[in-house]
Amino acid sequence: MSLDILSWKPLGDKENSDFFNEYRLKIYERRQKSGLDALLKGICGLVVQVDHGSALAYMEELYYMSPYRFSCARLNETPKVYFLRSSSEQPRFIVVEPLSRDYVDDLTRLNMLYPRSRDTPNARYVGEIFATADVAETRRILESHDIRFHDPEEEQNAFFANDHFTFTFPSDITGNRVGYTAADLDDTEALGAGQRLELTAAETERLAKADALTKETDLGRLILGPDHMATRILAGEREDALLEFLTMSNYYFWGAYNIHEMNSSTNVTRNPSVDDEKTSPAKVFTANNTPSFVNSFEGRPMPTENFVRNYGRRLHHLAYEVLDGDHKGGEKNIDYVVGELKKLGIPFLAKVVGECKDEPNLKQIFSKHSKYSLLITEYVERCYNYEGFFTKSNVAALTEAAGHDERFEHGHVFD
Ligand SMILES: [Fe+2]
Repeated sequence: MSLDILSWKPLGDKENSDFFNEYRLKIYERRQKSGLDALLKGICGLVVQVDHGSALAYMEELYYMSPYRFSCARLNETPKVYFLRSSSEQPRFIVVEPLSRDYVDDLTRLNMLYPRSRDTPNARYVGEIFATADVAETRRILESHDIRFHDPEEEQNAFFANDHFTFTFPSDITGNRVGYTAADLDDTEALGAGQRLELTAAETERLAKADALTKETDLGRLILGPDHMATRILAGEREDALLEFLTMSNYYFWGAYNIHEMNSSTNVTRNPSVDDEKTSPAKVFTANNTPSFVNSFEGRPMPTENFVRNYGRRLHHLAYEVLDGDHKGGEKNIDYVVGELKKLGIPFLAKVVGECKDEPNLKQIFSKHSKYSLLITEYVERCYNYEGFFTKSNVAALTEAAGHDERFEHGHVFD
């Protein structure tokens, strides 16, 4: 049973403008009237592009850090595309790797604009793919709402130009694209996603080794699936980013919290039709409360504004849920997972935050960003069936830790 989004009273203490409140409801009504909500189901794919030559190493990292495992690869005119899956209800994970180091598209150009992303010009979270009953009708409706799409002939990435997909332009507000498909992402033959590409024996062995290790250590059982994706945007664009995503999706604005210590807010949208976030993860937006150019009046922290100035507007982290419970030694599963990942050489930012002493709460941690995707991985354990989505104190501690990830060893960046 789907939640009634029109009567939902958003949670949280971050104030929204009358403009936002008015258009939020207008957008929901238009989605229902235009038929968009009836067409869209949920997120069925997450797409990440990596630089030429990085896909295997990135997949190996995903084996350790996520529940995703390789299912097949296809070769297109411009990229190799690797499909990964976890349990069948969760979105597929698609890794796109350009065939050449010189490959350039809109996302490369966006990466080139910012000091910390230009050394890895194609490393970027591209966006989500929504399952729809009808791609052409979805596009027709969204174009009538002034959402812009690439025509297949101007789409530089041959995979995105596939007839079974349509992808929006990268958003001016978030840098993310949104894709739509009516196809079964497991049936890559029918998808016409290029020629079948076999991994070499050495590549297969490398992934098999990683898989065996995650079975031995139990990581494969404890890391459950994607919980949310968090995009960072500039201070003044918070409401627009939310309204734009509500326009392009079937999600609703769940609520927004002011994270006073970090001078930012966390703004959450969710799929009203799912009980389990892992089947269609929440989409979160984080913005500073004040823009960088007035920040020095009060000298408040501004890690979110700094991130955007260093990397551009983009997805900041992808969070995975960890199975709730205690591991053999009596420590919480998330503490065990982080300990094992550290042994494998995966660096984390600060410590696990939140306490789970016999009562419902959240424990969370951020990894350091991946050098292949630039994404931070978050782990979240909802202890004793904690029902809330997050706690303000955890978010403040995590945001502060992520701020330290911004410190740059060389070159001119904002600290
Ligand atoms: Fe998060």
